[in-house]
Amino acid sequence: MAGGPMAAGGGVGVNAPQNKLAGILMTVFSAFGGILFGYDTGVIGGVKEMKDWLRTFGHPDPSALTGFSISSSTESLVVSILSAGTFFGALLGAPIADHVGRKNGIMVACVVFVIGVAMQTASTSIPLFVTGRVFAGLGVGLVSCLIPMYQSECSPKWIRGAVVSTYQWTITIGLLLAAIVNNGTQNIDSHASYRIPTALQFVWAAILAGGMFFLPESPRFLIKAGREADAAHSLSRLTRLAPNDPEVQAELDEIRTALEAERALGESSYADCFKMGQGKIALRTLSGIFIQAWQQLTGINFIFYYGTTFFNNSGIKNAFIVTIATNVVNVFMTLPGMYGVERYGRRRLLLIGAAGMCICEYIVAIVGVTISVDNLAGQRVLIAFVCIYIAFFASTWGPIAWVITGEIFPLQVRAKAMSLSVASNWLWNFAIGYATPFLVNKAPGSAGLQAKVFFIWGSTCLGCLVFTYFCIPETKGLSLEQIDVMYQNTWPVAAADFRRQLMAGEVTQEKAESNHSH
Ligand code: GLC
Repeated sequence: MAGGPMAAGGGVGVNAPQNKLAGILMTVFSAFGGILFGYDTGVIGGVKEMKDWLRTFGHPDPSALTGFSISSSTESLVVSILSAGTFFGALLGAPIADHVGRKNGIMVACVVFVIGVAMQTASTSIPLFVTGRVFAGLGVGLVSCLIPMYQSECSPKWIRGAVVSTYQWTITIGLLLAAIVNNGTQNIDSHASYRIPTALQFVWAAILAGGMFFLPESPRFLIKAGREADAAHSLSRLTRLAPNDPEVQAELDEIRTALEAERALGESSYADCFKMGQGKIALRTLSGIFIQAWQQLTGINFIFYYGTTFFNNSGIKNAFIVTIATNVVNVFMTLPGMYGVERYGRRRLLLIGAAGMCICEYIVAIVGVTISVDNLAGQRVLIAFVCIYIAFFASTWGPIAWVITGEIFPLQVRAKAMSLSVASNWLWNFAIGYATPFLVNKAPGSAGLQAKVFFIWGSTCLGCLVFTYFCIPETKGLSLEQIDVMYQNTWPVAAADFRRQLMAGEVTQEKAESNHSH
């Protein structure tokens, strides 16, 4: 199994940078799906605070600022039901990716998403609104599984991490757009206040589906589906080389050899995602599932879902502006992450990010529990460290968790393992989104945790650090097939040397096989 992928992947200049810009830009376009993801998760926070939305979906409440309110359980349901939909959407990602393809799957996701958006926009009752959120969630779940997969399979190895990071970047832009649009429409005194932000999602879905229509399908999927000629054509569009160009043929060979070797092991099932053996597939699947879980456990969505409330409770005036500021930091600090992932590598950035977030979150917790609500200097320190914490997340764990899940699985189980990992992201997203209002504000018989909740997130970031150290190898600069070979021959914590040899083209079939037997 080892010989083919290494021989082809090690030395061939298939992925050399010259003249590849157009192909790379095509792959980057698919990142537009991140807008659906970010906008949809972000928009609800503002919509559910709007007077007309509360008047339509809630009940009169003279004590509330707007004169209307909804119960905590309805609020939790409306916010977090999307993640329940996305959880199942992510699981559906595997059969869809393997049957209709990565590109077509993304277009199917847009259709499902649009159905959900139509329901939300038209609805005047909670059941229809919630059903719409479930459908939109299914679409977002599919997109979040299919896009990193499509991007990793279509981009050249020397820039794959940066390309997949563009997906995270558009998620952050989606979140920011939602905050801005909500701010613009919140004071309109009619259904338009919430229908405009909701209906705008049609536009995002139309742009994504329309653009994907013109993009090539993943060559790796086409080879898996036995469509050799289509695969050559697709790779030729992505590399701007003729289909019979030796570079294109070499890359197709590399993919074919890896796939054949995996096929020799038999048709794959979900159980195969947990096989130990030489390829350490179980370790890889679990690493994918855990890296996505840990990404959520950094506590990031606490800020994006409930940040406004938290800042209000800390006595901060203009909590809304602070929320926009946190979103701006998130968008702009993802850019150094996109550069860093290829310059410094995934593993190193994950370690630095986890340590940085841990320190910031402990500081926020300590400052938050010590200061009084009228301590202006203390509030500034608190806001500053929340922003630094977001900067660490945006430049490391935000993009890199998606990059890693796009590249560590062998082709034979890639769709399934990817689905499981993304479903884990949404499961934790849901759990944290649902539990937070109870945990922070309304713990029975107490005033809630408030800023103390950052002690929890700080500690989970320590978990992120230990997890990365033991489970995540450096994958920068390797082709997907070489990553496979690396897992077959070594363990994540000790992979640095083997990776260097792979990149230098020093790993031969004999050497790899002798490694297996030891
Ligand atoms: C990541 C997370 C997502 C979060 C976003 C914030 O994409 O998966 O849950 O909202 O980062 O930038």
